[in-house]
Amino acid sequence: MPDPVIALSMPRPDRMIAWRDELQRHLPGFRVAGTDDITDPETVRYAVVWKPPTGLIAGYPNLRAVVSIGAGIDHVAADSRYPTHVPVIKTIGPNMTQRMREYIALHVLRHHREQPAVAAAQARREWDQRVIPPATRRRVGILGMGHLGRAAAQTLRALGFDVAGWSRSGAGADGVPGYAQDRLDEFLGRSEILVCLLPLTDDTRGILNAATLGKLPKEASIINAARGDHVIEDDLLAGLESGHLSHATLDVFATEPLPRDHPFWTHPKVTVTPHVASLIDPASGGRVIADNIKAFEAGQHVPDLTRIDRGY
Ligand code: NAP
Ligand code: GLV
Repeated sequence: MPDPVIALSMPRPDRMIAWRDELQRHLPGFRVAGTDDITDPETVRYAVVWKPPTGLIAGYPNLRAVVSIGAGIDHVAADSRYPTHVPVIKTIGPNMTQRMREYIALHVLRHHREQPAVAAAQARREWDQRVIPPATRRRVGILGMGHLGRAAAQTLRALGFDVAGWSRSGAGADGVPGYAQDRLDEFLGRSEILVCLLPLTDDTRGILNAATLGKLPKEASIINAARGDHVIEDDLLAGLESGHLSHATLDVFATEPLPRDHPFWTHPKVTVTPHVASLIDPASGGRVIADNIKAFEAGQHVPDLTRIDRGY
């Protein structure tokens, strides 16, 4: 009897070998193979994917679960032929959470200390001394209080920021008050620095638009480390150009890589990072994925098991 197969699909073939070898090392009872090397789709028991091509998953009739190489599952849900009875396991793990804490702390501090304006003054050789309020007087709002939103909120709280979170349930975290969905306007009205860490779903697509951005306090700034499609780009640009918004730090974009002629690249009030807030690496991510597959095989609880419900 041949070993069951784990099919690996990712758009970057240069990253495939490291992932395949790491997963194979942790899962010796399986054959881990790139999708192009699989001749018998019936042998595939798990598919480990990032942005799988449309119809790929539907082509594996004996699949037990799909594993997203990342926290988001919108790239799986984007497959209109996805067989929704197949569960999806998200990959998170401590390194991902730690990296996101660092990214959010770095950029919130940078916005809080008005570092983009300080750097612009340096470029003009201007001695622009600014009195910045302490973090305790800076209100930060986090859209999405899941794994990453909660972790970011706790890190910012430890730095002294006045942090609040917004989610469906309105759940808070230690010392961080939560606002439920129906209090979005109130939440936005208090958020001088707004951080987006929502999953991309039909309900959250375009959530950062003219109406919502307009409810932020004057000269508020935003940090989007979730998905590009959370933002209506033209509305963001209009908010920056009118002066209502002071800065935007964007890690994710509607089109990635960000096209070379996109106005974000050169906009003085935009900081672009190339979807690196919390990249997953084969060494630590491979172990998390293997542990999740082993737990699923053994019928144990897998905390990050979810489903595509087409609300996604
Ligand atoms: P998660 O654990 O699934 O958290 C979801 C949070 O969003 C929960 O608080 C949930 O509220 C809230 N939420 C969902 N739909 C909502 C809605 N319609 N209205 C209000 N709140 C809503 O997600 P996560 O693991 O923290 O990850 C968040 C996202 O970060 C991922 O989906 C991915 O897109 C992004 N990400 C980016 C990078 C990067 O490098 N840039 C890396 C990793 C992840 P309830 O709990 O009340 O339902
Ligand atoms: C990265 O964007 C992820 O979803 O893990």
